[in-house]
Amino acid sequence: MVEVEWSDGGVSSFPYVWLRDNCQCPQCFKPDSCSRLVLMSDLDVNVSPVRAESQARGGLLWVEWSDGHQSHYDWQWLKERCFSPHAMSERERAWQRKTQLWGAEITHDLPKADFPVLLTDDRALYDFLVILDSVGLVLVQNVPCDVGQVERLANRVAFLKQTSGFGKEFAVVNKSKPGSDMAYTSAKLGLHTDLNYYNYKPGVQMLHCIEQTKGEGGDNSLVDGFNAAHQLKEENPDAFRLLTTLKVAFRHVGVDYQKYIHKQRQNIIRLNDQDEIQSISYSDPTRASILDMPADQVQPFYDALKAFNTTMHLPGNCVRLKMAAGEMMVFDNTRVLHGRSAYSPDSGTRHLQGGYMDWDDVYSRMRVLEMELGIEG
Ligand code: OGA
Ligand code: ZN
Ligand code: ZN
Repeated sequence: MVEVEWSDGGVSSFPYVWLRDNCQCPQCFKPDSCSRLVLMSDLDVNVSPVRAESQARGGLLWVEWSDGHQSHYDWQWLKERCFSPHAMSERERAWQRKTQLWGAEITHDLPKADFPVLLTDDRALYDFLVILDSVGLVLVQNVPCDVGQVERLANRVAFLKQTSGFGKEFAVVNKSKPGSDMAYTSAKLGLHTDLNYYNYKPGVQMLHCIEQTKGEGGDNSLVDGFNAAHQLKEENPDAFRLLTTLKVAFRHVGVDYQKYIHKQRQNIIRLNDQDEIQSISYSDPTRASILDMPADQVQPFYDALKAFNTTMHLPGNCVRLKMAAGEMMVFDNTRVLHGRSAYSPDSGTRHLQGGYMDWDDVYSRMRVLEMELGIEG
């Protein structure tokens, strides 16, 4: 390894192979594509330098390799890539989501954003996305009451994710021919996340109220699924273990935007490789009837599902919100469960517009905004 002693203290070690692989010269790296040009086929992974020295002029580490190739590295660039445990744990912190759990207490203090401001003010857009990431729910207000506003917001952030059931921006109304999705009726929808039968289910969901029913019902329930899962882990570790380990299939077959046959297996509560709760996939209507588990696991599995369902429905966990025309809920579909109470199809029209985005594109937009606005990420 090349050892670097910093003038302000500390020593960093940079393995030879890593230095050679990350040579920043124009033959090895193309800055405008942000791409490495060194191919693994051509890389000698046992490479070693014949000389390495600090070049005062230009402030560079200069390395000459046994094949005659020469590399130089900017000190600041190297420092940002330091392999020390301290530097690694700092970088690890930056990868962590800054999740804020919530329950019903958030009802009277819902994070809000103003639609016209989001469309014109980059800082407001950034702040909105930060809250969407940490809280998982924002109520956007002053949205014009016509079709196309979901797509306008999506295009300001990134773009809409198309799905075979819903297309791009879709109307959630009580249809005389509801097609294949329960959302297109006036029936109650239990707490759920959408599109669990996708491998990459959309991360962000928007529901924009254009017209609310004039009668009873039609209000939404929202639950922080991460919070409910944490409670389940505390109170019923066996149930938590089952829901984090058993694979459950979701399937949906029908004709809406397109003819589709979707199926996918998920853990109801998915953990990441550090055993942190990563996503929730829950929907009673589309949970498949084929259960790929031994028969003696079935009763414990149902007990676990019931326990999770009971936890999410605790009054302390449930936010109830009857959107008014001109409001739009934007929420994290990998975390927040949503439901709808039944309404009467005879009490006037209820019309929501829906759409989805992917978190990767939302995060990318946040990073671009950070750069443009000079915000420390
Ligand atoms: C949906 C949905 C809720 C509602 O379209 O995914 O859950 O309030 N709709 O109609
Ligand atoms: Zn090079
Ligand atoms: Zn839904």
